[in-house]
Amino acid sequence: MKKESIIDLDRKHVWHPYTQELTAPPPMEIVKAKGAWLTAADGKQYLDLISSWWVNLHGHAHPLIAQAIAEQAARLEQVIFAGFTHAPAVRLAKQLTDLFQGKLSRVFYSDDGSTAVEVALKMALQFWQNKGEDRTRFIAFEGGYHGDTAGAMSAGKSSGFFDAFKPMMFQVDLAPFPQTWLNRDVSEIEADEKNSLDALDALLEKHEGKIAGAIIEPLVQGASGMKMCRPEFLQKLYGRLNALGIPLILDEVMTGFGRTGKMFAHQKADVTPDIICLSKGLTGGFLPLSVTICKEELYKSFLGENFAKALAHGHSFTANPLGCAAALASLDLFETENTLARITEIEKIHLERITALPIHSKNIKPRVCGTIAALDFPSEKEGYCSETGPKLKNFFMEKGLMIRPLGNVLYLLPPYCITDKELHQAWDAINDGLSQLS
Ligand SMILES: Cc1ncc(COP(=O)(O)O)c(C=O)c1O
Repeated sequence: MKKESIIDLDRKHVWHPYTQELTAPPPMEIVKAKGAWLTAADGKQYLDLISSWWVNLHGHAHPLIAQAIAEQAARLEQVIFAGFTHAPAVRLAKQLTDLFQGKLSRVFYSDDGSTAVEVALKMALQFWQNKGEDRTRFIAFEGGYHGDTAGAMSAGKSSGFFDAFKPMMFQVDLAPFPQTWLNRDVSEIEADEKNSLDALDALLEKHEGKIAGAIIEPLVQGASGMKMCRPEFLQKLYGRLNALGIPLILDEVMTGFGRTGKMFAHQKADVTPDIICLSKGLTGGFLPLSVTICKEELYKSFLGENFAKALAHGHSFTANPLGCAAALASLDLFETENTLARITEIEKIHLERITALPIHSKNIKPRVCGTIAALDFPSEKEGYCSETGPKLKNFFMEKGLMIRPLGNVLYLLPPYCITDKELHQAWDAINDGLSQLS
């Protein structure tokens, strides 16, 4: 009997994420990866310019992370984290809190970006309950995306993905997200920021004493199309919430670990959130793991003589030792490979190339923040319904470049191990794409 191929078996038994299985082309089978390159089953190689859904940092199959996982797997692969602990989780918590100079001091582990957000929302809600205040509303930003679990969907309800799930959502009020891009007039940016802050002020006034927290993707809204805002806006948002004692939740699931030029996006705005959510790059992109880290004051509100005030949340694989070992190895690499310096160089190349694009005058809204570069590809339709996305994806895949546009938004978000030559190769292809397809 003929052996079925992986793709045949996939077609029969697998259900892929964010995919219309009836019309989607068969998925591509990837058999191995090294550095910034993925190898497909037919031997063709693809330069991973989206860090495999924004998770990879130092390159695929980095030997030091692989080794750390292997050593940990041979010693302790998993243990329940309620009532038990282990060195990798404790060491990682210490290293992460050190990155926030102790201002964020308590680390709660979970499994992925969505659960990190879910935990943050629960923390903020119960913080008020534990203080004897009934606050149940949240503020979020238009276009924001925070994950696919029910709370995260509620906060990201305007991302455009979740209409089918509206009955599962709770009340979240939205303020506009004020965008910036390279050649945008400052007076326009300031007007948008004022508009957003006015909307925020109106919500804070209307629901005085009822708002449990506010959540934002700082500096870059990823899934909604790599939309960027200025650090100044984040500062003003923080100032308003801080004055009212309302927790600011920063969803740095995508922006964390160097993507925006600093280790964390909020450090560019010099603000300290009350709660931060981290995942994706936490393990260098090797394993699913996330953390929700909060200020000591918030943690202390959960202390009491009985269970009533405790945080009733946990997952089977909370603080999985393999994930923690990978994360520790990834943090070491930031030091030994001088990763932040490399990130600065990537940003320099992005800026040089994006500003030299031939059709700069058209409204492509060129934007760069650290290792993330994006532009709106000229298209009849905007957003995910744009047919430009699949057309662009095919154009680049044929050139061996794995780029996955968000609708008509073309972006690069490479692993930090990418070489100058490889990055220029991507920009050369974008140049060609703009002249041939727009
Ligand atoms: C900002 C942000 N928050 C949360 C999530 C959800 O993370 P996960 O897919 O790991 O659940 C994502 C995923 O893309 C994200 O970009």
